[in-house]
Amino acid sequence: MSNQGPVKTAIIGSQFEADIHAFSLTSVPDAAELVAVASPTPGHAAELAKKYNIPRVFTDYKKMLAEKDIEMVTIAAPNYLHAQMTIDIAAAGKHVVCEKPLCMTLEEADEMIDTCQRQGVLLMYAEELFFTPKYVKAKEMADQGAFGRVYMVKQCEKHFGPHAPWFWDVEKSGGGVFMDMGCHGIAFCWWFLGRPEIKNVFCQMATYVHTDKTKGEDNCLCIIEFENNAVGLIENSWARRGGMEDRIEVYGEAGLTYADLHMGNALPTYSEPGYGYAVEKAPTTKGWTYPVFEELWNYGFPQEMRHFARCVRGKEEPQATGRDGRVVQQVLYAGYHSAATGEKIPLPFEARNVKTPIELWLDVR
Ligand SMILES: NC(=O)c1ccc[n+]([C@@H]2O[C@H](COP(=O)([O-])OP(=O)(O)OC[C@H]3O[C@@H](n4cnc5c(N)ncnc54)[C@H](O)[C@@H]3O)[C@@H](O)[C@H]2O)c1
Repeated sequence: MSNQGPVKTAIIGSQFEADIHAFSLTSVPDAAELVAVASPTPGHAAELAKKYNIPRVFTDYKKMLAEKDIEMVTIAAPNYLHAQMTIDIAAAGKHVVCEKPLCMTLEEADEMIDTCQRQGVLLMYAEELFFTPKYVKAKEMADQGAFGRVYMVKQCEKHFGPHAPWFWDVEKSGGGVFMDMGCHGIAFCWWFLGRPEIKNVFCQMATYVHTDKTKGEDNCLCIIEFENNAVGLIENSWARRGGMEDRIEVYGEAGLTYADLHMGNALPTYSEPGYGYAVEKAPTTKGWTYPVFEELWNYGFPQEMRHFARCVRGKEEPQATGRDGRVVQQVLYAGYHSAATGEKIPLPFEARNVKTPIELWLDVR
């Protein structure tokens, strides 16, 4: 296996997220070379291959894993397949990039982490919010002290529901909107606050609009209390009309910032102490300012893939790993259990032998 130059990468899946992976990987040719794609529906992988000039096409991902030169494989397949795919990729000696949520159960998370460790390959968790320029800028400012001690972080992600049928089938997805998009908010709040211990989780959820389509919840509010005396507030909906919403709010003793990925091109920011850089020729960084971010890479997907490829080359330390995914999984379990019982659930909460996180809510409801 060559160990210099762009990392030879393959994708499992050919639809929504696979297209994002293909776009991202081909946007960072210094770091990655997209050499193969596998997807079971005849013609689908070939279509993606044509769009992005991917030379090798497979309908069976296991055949693709036999290709010796492939070094890194990204998983853009439904949630219930993540664990087995990760184990197969690791067994083939290749580094893994796994889409969110990491998997269905904590047992799977442990097996994924252990297998990758044993095989000496990286398990990288594709949480792009760690790379979203606007959100990264907010974290840099917080870390510079722009807001003083941060006591509350909020992340909202909402739309009117996912594009593919498997998301609505809780046996395949593991849950409703909390599992699908709450995983972003949980990871985000935890990462933003510097990965503090989680004290407890409280959730309210219900299926308000899509009872005909799914057993999963389509609206969820989640509160996470952290050991450092900060709180995370996560709002998710598959019931929101009007398109996609993805935004954060950060509150500290000395300031605050809002970041809206879709409705604005800058971060309206208030800071008493000031911070490093707002925008070219800005006279000050104190009070209300409008710091810039990179428009084209607004979500951070190409940056994320570039980072993962560089990790494979040992040029960077992984910033999003299976361990992050496992923490998220624990909060998902606790959140579903909280919604079922109406109680705050202290962590660690490690229910065993559930097949899907949502069972902890559905079985008690
Ligand atoms: N990071 C994000 O913001 C984000 C956004 C969307 C989706 N996702 C995640 O990406 C993953 C895929 O979601 P999607 O929206 O692309 O779904 P999708 O339904 O659009 O695509 C799923 C793909 O998986 C393939 N697939 C199914 N079974 C397979 C198998 N046995 N072997 C190989 N491929 C198989 C399908 O053929 C299809 O190409 C999910 O885990 C989802 O949560 C992440």
